[in-house]
Amino acid sequence: MLKKEYSKDLSKLNSFGMKVQSRLFVEYDSLMDLVELDFDELFHPVKHIGAGSNLLFTGDFPGTLLHSAIRFTEVLSEDAKGVRVSVGSGVIFDDFCAWAASKGYWGVENLSLIPGEVGASAVQNIGAYGVEVKDVIETVYAYDTKEEEMVHFDASACGYAYRDSFFKHAEGRYIVTHVVFVLSKAYAPRLDYGNIRAALGLDETSVPKGLTPQQVREAIIRIRREKLPEVGKVGSAGSFFKNPVVSRAEYERICAQHPGVSVPHYEVGDAVKIPAGWMIEQCGWKGRRSGNAGVWDKQALVLVNATGAALPEEILRLESQIIVSVRERFGIELSPEVEHL
Ligand code: EPU
Repeated sequence: MLKKEYSKDLSKLNSFGMKVQSRLFVEYDSLMDLVELDFDELFHPVKHIGAGSNLLFTGDFPGTLLHSAIRFTEVLSEDAKGVRVSVGSGVIFDDFCAWAASKGYWGVENLSLIPGEVGASAVQNIGAYGVEVKDVIETVYAYDTKEEEMVHFDASACGYAYRDSFFKHAEGRYIVTHVVFVLSKAYAPRLDYGNIRAALGLDETSVPKGLTPQQVREAIIRIRREKLPEVGKVGSAGSFFKNPVVSRAEYERICAQHPGVSVPHYEVGDAVKIPAGWMIEQCGWKGRRSGNAGVWDKQALVLVNATGAALPEEILRLESQIIVSVRERFGIELSPEVEHL
């Protein structure tokens, strides 16, 4: 079924809670409806959205927003090693994580509670706690709006990188309809990121036995609830900026400029990733307000609609202020992770 709404209020369709409208909003719940949609008849630009949890609407959207309500979870095959599962693009990603944990399958437990839907997860290569969704994706199925045909891509053909894929650079040509994931039955907890071990009551070296995906999922949920604003209560789009990857020389320059400070970092090949949240905190922004916008007091990488009444320009002003601060203090240019529409 196709659902079309004009002058659609988007306040509940973007997790930042911006009170904006879309000229047209179209939702479909089957492949057939998507294929039959006449794109020439829609207002342009046409943009496909997921749950709106990684978007900042900078004003009313002048064209058409498309949304998938294709929702199914189907086990395609199962053997002693694991399962292959096909999941519709409109499924809430965390519902899929909950399903996998309830069945005892490993693979997506560290991605628990990330807001958003399955289609967007494959476009954005969502990640958390040492895992990226590309690690469990086998194939992405999409509708090619240019050739007007269904296509599919193995994960290796999706150009996956940190919060990136080739879909993001194809200017809306491909609409993800469903994703095939590979989940494992083999014992495979990934506990080495940050404080997962502590959240499970483990010390840093013990090799735990008998953990379940459900226990790891619950630990991740506890960690996220402590650090991140509750979706639906405080408007935000999760991490607002990407963690910048800099050269080793640049990292060493920053260390030299901050004697006695241990600069948090992760090795990425020959380069070094420095948490943007740490830099923003060092610049004094953590917990600060700028009008109705603010920086979350428990995680400085998260910008929030602090009062619920923030206008897009207030978030944009705070974004610029933070970029300038980090540039002046560290000589590093932050770039937003959140897509601006
Ligand atoms: N840090 C601070 N102050 C802060 C925030 C972070 O000093 O206010 C430092 C700490 O040293 C901490 C390190 O930064 O150890 C990393 O912090 P955290 O583990 O919270 O992760 P992050 O790098 O800030 C990334 C993702 C998150 C994901 C977490 C956990 C990006 C842009 N963000 O944040 O993803 O949940 O790791 O894996 O890569 C999202 O994309 O929306 C998101 C929430």
